[in-house]
Amino acid sequence: MRSKRVKLGQSDIEVSRVGAGTWQWGGKFYWGYGRSYTDVDLANAFSACISGGINWFDTAEIYGRGRSEQILGKLIHNSQVDKKSSSDRTIVATKFFPYPWRWKHHSFRNALKNSLKRLGVQSVDLYQIHFPLRPRNFKYWVDALADATEDGLVKAVGVSNFTSEQTKQTHEILSGRGIQLASNQIGYSLLNRSPESNGILDACKELGVSVISYGPLAEGLLTGKYGPHNPPPLPRRLRWAGRRLKVLPPLISLMKDIGSAHQSTPSQVALNWLIKRDTLPIPGVKSARQAADNAAAMNWNLTESEFDALNRATINFLPD
Ligand SMILES: NC(=O)c1ccc[n+]([C@@H]2O[C@H](COP(=O)([O-])OP(=O)(O)OC[C@H]3O[C@@H](n4cnc5c(N)ncnc54)[C@H](OP(=O)(O)O)[C@@H]3O)[C@@H](O)[C@H]2O)c1
Repeated sequence: MRSKRVKLGQSDIEVSRVGAGTWQWGGKFYWGYGRSYTDVDLANAFSACISGGINWFDTAEIYGRGRSEQILGKLIHNSQVDKKSSSDRTIVATKFFPYPWRWKHHSFRNALKNSLKRLGVQSVDLYQIHFPLRPRNFKYWVDALADATEDGLVKAVGVSNFTSEQTKQTHEILSGRGIQLASNQIGYSLLNRSPESNGILDACKELGVSVISYGPLAEGLLTGKYGPHNPPPLPRRLRWAGRRLKVLPPLISLMKDIGSAHQSTPSQVALNWLIKRDTLPIPGVKSARQAADNAAAMNWNLTESEFDALNRATINFLPD
């Protein structure tokens, strides 16, 4: 199925309104890779994404210490062997992590080359700076990213976890070199509405930068399968513990009501809310069932009154 495509920022890259996250692909401790799901499940998830109309995957060099990029690269390669046309090829987004021991431009270039090698590609569609971490000022890495773009190793430039001010500065630096900032990837969901009040959404809109929403299902909490009496596995519980689980039941109940009016699931309601907020959600997937469910969110839209009801129900997750 070919779903509607939208431009990533002002780049030539066209993506489906829902992408797929792959932090889980190789994530042993936090996600249970190799225990509760295997490479076979991930291959099936990949196929279900493609058949459901998802045409892009988000990974990072740090996911599974490179394993996520390797798995993704292999699956893309295998899926393209029989393909005659490249008109609907699979888009890959990956990320550079500014470890404190990375200090020089050449460490950026080495990290990128290692990602390209693991992915088995000559250039990456979207390369993102994972965090604006010190000791190096983020501007140093933006410069290195611009160099890599000029050298043809990167097609579109992205950042992640950048504030509105950092996004504006990045946009300005890149514009000075004739390059557009395509995206900022941020944490955004019905349980985390801070991007609406911290200026990020406004800044991205003003600059024509796409917002990619990570954690769109609040690491599974918004799927309807977890609650105070049925919490997610321990690593996630420790990170998302207490308060969120307690406030979940009335929200999930509303999401189920809305979902059933569209023969749909709470996960699809959560993703549709982010689409209506003009962002690109990238739910992480572990199985074909999850991938098909998430892809189906692109087949329907929330009504205005459903959207308003969800906004009102999650007003507490919109900080001042
Ligand atoms: N830039 C950054 O700093 C950053 C940070 C975090 C994530 N990310 C990216 O964003 C992606 C998404 O975030 P995330 O993976 O952390 O969280 P998420 O997408 O909110 O939640 C993913 C989890 O939800 C469950 N799930 C997914 N689809 C489902 C469905 N249809 N039905 C039922 N359960 C479903 C699965 O877990 P269970 O089955 O185990 O419950 C899955 O592991 C990541 O994979 C990664 O690519 C980026």
